[in-house]
Amino acid sequence: MKLCMIGTGYVGLVSGVCFADLGNDVICVDKDFSKISSLKKGRVPIYEPGLSELVIKNYKNKRLRFSTDLKKSIIQSDIIFICVGTPTKKGGSSADLSQIFNVVKEISSSINKFKIIITKSTVPVTTGDEIEKILSKKNKKNKFSVVSNPEFLREGEAIRDFTYPDRIVVGSNEKKSIKIMRNLYSPLISKGAQYVNTSRRAAELIKYASNAFLATKITFINEIANLCEKTGINIEDISIGMGLDKRIGSRFLRAGPAYGGSCFPKDTKAIISTADKFKTNLSVIKSVIKSNENRSKLLLERVYKILNKRLKNKQITFLGVTFKANTDDMRDSSSLIMIPALIKKGAKVNYYDPTGYKKEFSKIKNVKNSATIKESIIGSDLVIIHTEWNDFKSINFKSLARSKKFIIFDMRNIYSAKKIKNQGFKYYSIGR
Ligand code: UDX
Repeated sequence: MKLCMIGTGYVGLVSGVCFADLGNDVICVDKDFSKISSLKKGRVPIYEPGLSELVIKNYKNKRLRFSTDLKKSIIQSDIIFICVGTPTKKGGSSADLSQIFNVVKEISSSINKFKIIITKSTVPVTTGDEIEKILSKKNKKNKFSVVSNPEFLREGEAIRDFTYPDRIVVGSNEKKSIKIMRNLYSPLISKGAQYVNTSRRAAELIKYASNAFLATKITFINEIANLCEKTGINIEDISIGMGLDKRIGSRFLRAGPAYGGSCFPKDTKAIISTADKFKTNLSVIKSVIKSNENRSKLLLERVYKILNKRLKNKQITFLGVTFKANTDDMRDSSSLIMIPALIKKGAKVNYYDPTGYKKEFSKIKNVKNSATIKESIIGSDLVIIHTEWNDFKSINFKSLARSKKFIIFDMRNIYSAKKIKNQGFKYYSIGR
């Protein structure tokens, strides 16, 4: 099948490459010339394990092409995936759909034969209806079909999530598109993926409800971790004990810093905004957003306490600054709240991240990027393990301590408290 992916960010590029790998002809199109020209040279602009290799392989065998010519790419394709960003509106909480509608306008004037137009980007309920309305102005109804097919890819695990999805959700009640979509996904269905066909509006809402639920699960365990800290209980025992109940499940019960990333913060806000529009109060999700915002403040309070409220000229190391491991994505990472707050109190911050220098801190005085773990730790008063990269899982702290011993605050519970304490370090973690 001939596919066009509009937008070559995390969603569009990963999905496009994986569809090509399943044997489809895919054009990935983006208005960003520099991105497309580096992709044509086999250089992938984002960090995603395994992605580079797949891009090179499928580009070489010509199943994957890159273009900046949106019109031409649409004309040449049967299935159009819209994969552009839907960030939070500036100064608001609803999703900014301007990129979606700009693309839809272009599609509208390029429908030369029957096409399926799919929203893979996360879009609020009824967006599909609006797209259909726009397309109907210029095109006959039998020339197109608007489908919702949300992505559930986790950054850092995106290729695996695409290849072995828990479920594939397709929102459409048009026979022709349902058949084509099922066919497109048949290689994954035959490997065991659950295929769910719903109404278009339901598919749109499944995405938001799933992300809001996962955000709730994390926030829930983070709050229980607070109680564990006060009662001398190990949060990990709680996560195991709860997770074994099949109705609860063990995943997403790891306590840590505030959740971040490109989805949970924006999608929880956007679903509230949609609910407001339909005069429905999603009070649980509202509390989750508040609790998560409070989480960074709470962890900062712990840092102040650990350093006896004396932060002036204290050297603090951040190991990892992205919102989680195996990604270079800084969007809504809790480090963006915590580092500036610590600097404001007079501390100096060194950070090391396996994905390198981050422009987000370039304008903040007293924040330095180190090239190695060792360099970032030397001379430190407090080492904060902020992300759970494998690189941080077996650090020999003793060999880095030199004359003075630093304190360790392990926000991801990577280490055994007993082992680190036995080496003579003051060690703090989450919920234990
Ligand atoms: C998420 C969804 O999982 C994915 O299905 C969706 O399509 C996009 O958004 P992603 O943002 O890449 O994926 O990361 P995810 O692995 O879900 O983690 C999100 C946040 O939750 C991170 O900040 C992570 O550190 C945190 N988290 C996750 C926890 O704190 N504890 C957990 O147990 C799991």
